[in-house]
Amino acid sequence: MRILTGLQPSGKLHVGNYFGAMEPAVRLQEEGPAFYFIANYHAMTTVRNADELRNYTRELAIDFLACGIDPERAVFFLQSAVPEVNELAWILSNVCPVSQLEKAHSYKDKVARGFSPYHGLFAYPVLMAADILLYDATHVPVGKDQKQHLEITRDLAGKINEAYGEGTLVVPEPIIRESTAVVPGVDGQKMSKSYGNTLPLFAEPSEVKKIIMKKLVTDATPLEDPKPKENSTLLALYRLMASDAEVAAMEADYDRGGIGYGEFKKRLLEAYLERFEPLRARRQEITADPAYVDEVLARGAERARAAAAPVLDRVRRAVGIA
Ligand code: ADP
Ligand code: TRP
Repeated sequence: MRILTGLQPSGKLHVGNYFGAMEPAVRLQEEGPAFYFIANYHAMTTVRNADELRNYTRELAIDFLACGIDPERAVFFLQSAVPEVNELAWILSNVCPVSQLEKAHSYKDKVARGFSPYHGLFAYPVLMAADILLYDATHVPVGKDQKQHLEITRDLAGKINEAYGEGTLVVPEPIIRESTAVVPGVDGQKMSKSYGNTLPLFAEPSEVKKIIMKKLVTDATPLEDPKPKENSTLLALYRLMASDAEVAAMEADYDRGGIGYGEFKKRLLEAYLERFEPLRARRQEITADPAYVDEVLARGAERARAAAAPVLDRVRRAVGIA
């Protein structure tokens, strides 16, 4: 078993990213060798400013560490530290039909949202396949939105094996997270930085308070009446952050009535602060020690290169360029 996943440095982390991607990655590093990387080549498909990209990349590295990625255990690195991934992407692109990429939802969605249909955006899934296949990953935890990209990865690995010999590439399995598949945003839709509805993971408490108190949607049930539990965004977020006993108490108070949403929002804020304050403190410590972050990334780059070299060597021989 070899676990691998990547996150793009394309904005500030939010609670949806945490429960959907970060926390599962932290948990999985206990279960076997894990490779976690920051997909900065991928972020180039949407981030056009060099300083911004550098900055997001650095911030995300600190986020990963603050959330509990253990760089002794997991191999933690920047995608660009192993530029050979582009060579594997090129090799894969020769077995990837254009029609397969034309069907990719994420490409179609991004173009529909106004991103220019550049080749980088179009070829995104091929680079993602290379990310995974370069490290002989066997298990790839991703959100539902990435399911199709994993199917493309498996397909391309299969085509290489068919053309150049079984065993040239390891065909990986996705691990699709269903339980936290969709963390709702403060407007009740899927939390996403592109919808402006996020609860940030590392904001100042005063900012989080403002978002919860002013932006989080609730319905118009009068204070004294029981509150509907189904479709309650407030309750859905609380369930992610509070203890079982606290959740049971809030559910009972919803049923009973007599308590207004203002009070429930305060409880949500408390649960948020209790859950994330230790991470925020850790993040501040890491931010104050840039040499530590450099060191972690340098060591991760070394370990990632060492893992990639024999795989690339195997593939280069198999396809006839070595
Ligand atoms: P965004 O939608 O904010 O742009 P990304 O697409 O960059 O987020 O997602 C990064 C990771 O976080 C992915 O693994 C994705 O599945 C996960 N993720 C993003 N939003 C949510 C959410 N609302 N609920 C659960 N997981 C999410
Ligand atoms: N496309 C993924 C996302 O947007 C990020 C990513 C890039 C990735 N390469 C990967 C995820 C390889 C898993 C494996 O979330």
